[in-house]
Amino acid sequence: MPCPALPDGFDFTDPDLLHHRVPHPEFAELRRAEPVRWIPQTGNAAGFQDEGYWAVTRHADVKYVSTHPEIFSSYLNTAIIRFNEHIQRDSIDAQRLILLNMDPPEHTRVRQIVQRGFTPRAVRALEGRLRERARAIAEGARAHDGPFDFVTQVACELPLQAIAELIGVPQDDRAKIFDWSNKMIAYDDPEYAITAEVGAISAAELISYAMNMAAERKRCPAHDIVSTLVAAENEGNLNSDEFGFFVLMLSVAGNETTRNAITHGMHAFLTHPEQWELYKAERPATAAEEIVRWATPVVAFQRTATQDTELGGKLIRKGDRVGLFYASANHDPEVFDRPDLFDVTRDPNPHLGFGGGGPHFCLGKSLAVLEIDLIFNAVADALPGLTLVEDPRRLRSAWINGVKELRVSARP
Ligand code: HEM
Repeated sequence: MPCPALPDGFDFTDPDLLHHRVPHPEFAELRRAEPVRWIPQTGNAAGFQDEGYWAVTRHADVKYVSTHPEIFSSYLNTAIIRFNEHIQRDSIDAQRLILLNMDPPEHTRVRQIVQRGFTPRAVRALEGRLRERARAIAEGARAHDGPFDFVTQVACELPLQAIAELIGVPQDDRAKIFDWSNKMIAYDDPEYAITAEVGAISAAELISYAMNMAAERKRCPAHDIVSTLVAAENEGNLNSDEFGFFVLMLSVAGNETTRNAITHGMHAFLTHPEQWELYKAERPATAAEEIVRWATPVVAFQRTATQDTELGGKLIRKGDRVGLFYASANHDPEVFDRPDLFDVTRDPNPHLGFGGGGPHFCLGKSLAVLEIDLIFNAVADALPGLTLVEDPRRLRSAWINGVKELRVSARP
């Protein structure tokens, strides 16, 4: 039965939609009435009139698809589910070198190598420096007399520093990494006026920067992920293209996502003052996971069916695209008690904000959780009376729940 509440032409990946809101009422309706639904994408800019995708909205189905890579492949690109004038079919070829878009056995081989840089020990080693940074960021923001932008003054900084520490990027080059990774992701937002060419140039510059770093680490190894990867390259386990694209992916995956989690988390605290009071008093260790559930910075990724299969009572044909709507799964009442409540003590919290638990599950999860913990502890100490000045200004994107600006004030 078609879903009555979804108007004709409604597309979850229309950037104009996420520009204004996360479509939670529509997700709720689909979960209830048609949890696996074909969404046609007609008449978009690139003229892919026949395109469309299955919207998978229930927690159990998103997990099922994520954990069955032999049926639901990542090879035909995971990161977007809407072709447009910037993202065309032939641009997908280059993206196959990105870990996120690999299938087993390549994925297993590359992931085994790169995860050496993400061991609990490697993340713990960053904690002291990141704690100091978080304090300095929050104290710096306290110096503002009037309203300031929480995104640029607070939320951007720690993710950038964390990823740069992990990769081993020297202080002077960190702004470049930030700039390149922003340009690769904000192509749908006209405010940034980023063309396909600018995005491609940024990617090429970042990859060439990574290659130069690798050459330097070959001469003089250090305790960072580039040295680990260079060693693997020397052993013949990782080729240099895979290496360059991995550094590119880390820069993008580590920056934007965590920044948006932190910004949405702050907004949630400021609009749920009782949760902010509770957090300041008790600092629950469960808060970071609830912030990621609540924000779901990556609204969706996609897979492509490798064979005809059945899901949620629907026949999925080989070659069909399948959208995994993490934002919907994270509000599924079958799994979460009162899902529309922001509750920083929620436990257990089996949210899918870091993915559906399959082979691609977020490699940076423990780093992201650490960063969110550190920044909110620092903000609670330095800016306990923070107030909201204006509603957030949202990013225009097909799949990122992003915020460009959040005006706040340190003074009541
Ligand atoms: C993969 C979300 C932070 C590195 C993913 C996936 C999601 C995600 C949804 C895909 C999972 C799947 O397909 O099953 C997030 C969120 C973050 C965050 C919400 C912050 C709140 C980070 C950080 C890093 C990182 C800080 C690195 C420093 C990666 C990598 C992958 C990934 C490398 C690809 C893993 C693979 O394909 O095997 N992330 N992420 N992420 N993330 Fe994160």
